[in-house]
Amino acid sequence: MFNPVFKRSVILFIALVSFIVCTAQIKTIDQRVDSVLKLMTLEEKAGQMNQYNGPWAATGPLTNDNNLLSQIKDGKVGSMLNVTGVARTKELQQLAMQSRLKIPLLFGQDVIHGYRTIFPIPLGEAASWDIPAMEQSARIAATEAAAVGVHWTFAPMVDIARDPRWGRVMEGAGEDPYLGSLIATARVKGFQGKGFGNTDGLMACAKHFAAYGAAVGGRDYNSVDMSLRQLHEVYLPPFKAAAEAGAATFMNSFNDLNGIPATGNKYLQRDILKGEWKFKGFVVSDWGSVGEMINHGFSKDNYEAAMQAVNAGSDMDMESRSYIKHLAALVKEGKVKMNVIDDAVRRILKKKFEMGLFDDPYKYSNEEREKAQWNNAEHIKVARDISRKSIVLLKNEKQLLPLSKQTKKIALIGPFAKAKADNNGFWSYDWPDDTARISSLWEGVQRKLSAASEIVYAKGCNINDSSTAGFTEAVAVAKEADIVIISVGEARDMSGEAKSRSNIHLPGVQEKLIKAVMNAGKPVVVLISAGRPLIFNWTADNAPAILYTWWLGTEAGNAIADVLFGDYNPSGKLPMTFPRTEGQIPIYYNHYNTGRPAKNDSDLHYVSAFTDLPNSPKFPFGYGLSYTKFDYSNIRLSKAQFKPGEKIEAMVTVHNNGNYDGEEVVQLYIRDITGSVVRPVKELKGFQKITLKKGETKEVRFTISVNDLRFYNDKLQYIYEPGQFKLFIGGSSNDVKEVNFQLTK
Ligand code: BGC
Repeated sequence: MFNPVFKRSVILFIALVSFIVCTAQIKTIDQRVDSVLKLMTLEEKAGQMNQYNGPWAATGPLTNDNNLLSQIKDGKVGSMLNVTGVARTKELQQLAMQSRLKIPLLFGQDVIHGYRTIFPIPLGEAASWDIPAMEQSARIAATEAAAVGVHWTFAPMVDIARDPRWGRVMEGAGEDPYLGSLIATARVKGFQGKGFGNTDGLMACAKHFAAYGAAVGGRDYNSVDMSLRQLHEVYLPPFKAAAEAGAATFMNSFNDLNGIPATGNKYLQRDILKGEWKFKGFVVSDWGSVGEMINHGFSKDNYEAAMQAVNAGSDMDMESRSYIKHLAALVKEGKVKMNVIDDAVRRILKKKFEMGLFDDPYKYSNEEREKAQWNNAEHIKVARDISRKSIVLLKNEKQLLPLSKQTKKIALIGPFAKAKADNNGFWSYDWPDDTARISSLWEGVQRKLSAASEIVYAKGCNINDSSTAGFTEAVAVAKEADIVIISVGEARDMSGEAKSRSNIHLPGVQEKLIKAVMNAGKPVVVLISAGRPLIFNWTADNAPAILYTWWLGTEAGNAIADVLFGDYNPSGKLPMTFPRTEGQIPIYYNHYNTGRPAKNDSDLHYVSAFTDLPNSPKFPFGYGLSYTKFDYSNIRLSKAQFKPGEKIEAMVTVHNNGNYDGEEVVQLYIRDITGSVVRPVKELKGFQKITLKKGETKEVRFTISVNDLRFYNDKLQYIYEPGQFKLFIGGSSNDVKEVNFQLTK
């Protein structure tokens, strides 16, 4: 219709006008920030950099403080955490409105996997490899939390984790930097929605900056010592992705990194985050981590800790009280420059302006929205959908699953069969009506069956029991049934913060219960609910069917039942390697080859192997079955050589060769065969989640450019090098087809 030149001019004009309008807006906020800053005393500035826990709930070691609330009136508090609900947020905001400058409080909260509607734990959701679904779950969590006065979530947790002994693996996206980066971006976008100031969005917080997931031995809060190359290549990418997605804030971490606590780490916070990445938001410390630098042996006292943390770029002090006590003196004594304080306060005030709190401090505390979001049926539906997408089918011999809805008698056995709160997992909220709201497995199964079917039940044992007293009843119940479902796992507080475990076998006598029940000779389906990869070798080798169900949240029972009875064909893939024993840890798929790689699990001849343990994991990264079967064939490239600036296409044919429609995560890995620094045996560089009807065939295509071949060299430059590469495509990291290509100069 329009001639192209005219069209281009119109587009350019609109772009210019939007730019001017945006710049004007930014200026307005910056000017407003400056005008507030000018009015502030040094003590008030320190107040803005101070965050306290509220008086109702705590997520860390509390300091007794009788004057907590009066300090808000005195302008000594910039933010509170663990204050939720319209009534409480209003009450505290009213105190802030009595302070001299009436600067509103920011309310922060760990909204990790849902607020009122609890979604699967993040590690579970990561198993869905469904990026839009993860964005949507964060979106819903934000909508619900923002309706009760929360402004800011301490999520997403984007720590790469290669050690399942570390209890906090449940909060992240697993072991892979590529998958982790996509998920980090999706979660930031989901939480923040259409932008700051919309009342259905929260400010996100990428945490824990940085390398917290690499705590030595998987022991929480422990030290981290790693090469800067590994830091940049494996641990930083999801943080960079979060910053690029516009995360409002970052949280630093408890660990020291190569001898410098993250909270006092200038390289991390000033050089990388605020320097190289040009991050414009603010950095909050982790709970008490400023003061903990004394224990680390890095700071003499809180005075020095405050100085080191603020100079290193930590803008807000969560709960250590070091800033509020010492910042003013530090400035007066010349230990901290006024412009360092001003920069931190500017960053904090800017977010308060962007959130619209200076215009209306009660903007997010709204009774009607609180009520409307309290029991949102649409949110429950979405939770059920992502819950079933998160389930991973580990084993299905003789196509035992899906079960028939006409089965006459089903035995439900195990401590998770009727569990409610444990389904929610760590970092979730307890609501008084949870018993009615959380769907148990028992309820989910019951809803699938007609009146002609019967369910019999025996608990067998508790989650962490040493007693086998309930086994006799469980075996008797199993003997009566046509099919037995045993549901076991970890209690909700067995994985999470400060929940590291040296023994990650299925807890208590649960595996013994599985053995005892299997002796009854009936077909057995095992369900495992947990916050981390567990070890259950006997079950893995002997049970005919196993579903890994993580902690799925509010809709756990309904989602599991959907999968058990074939209303949903499982499509989850493991985002973390499952070890055979703790002795293999750390274990991850993208390891180096070494100078003496073992040819296979029985090769022990002077190779890099254990003499008492295979090198291969129990279940590899990217693994997960379906009720149907996907055949991969005809892997090929558009050309075998390409130059920088060019692209190649990789193609594979995927055929649904089974009896069900299904979804498959087609994974692409690359190996750089020789490099100026050694490269992993495989690195995930792409994936597509596709749907194939039974009998259907699809060609899946990926485009590769030099950007997929980049890595950090020994000078920390992010480069690519010409040479030979292998490209793999398949349905799991260890089940792939391969082709070779060359990058020429
Ligand atoms: C955790 C953070 C959390 C904070 C506030 C800390 O102990 O490490 O992840 O956001 O507490 O609850």
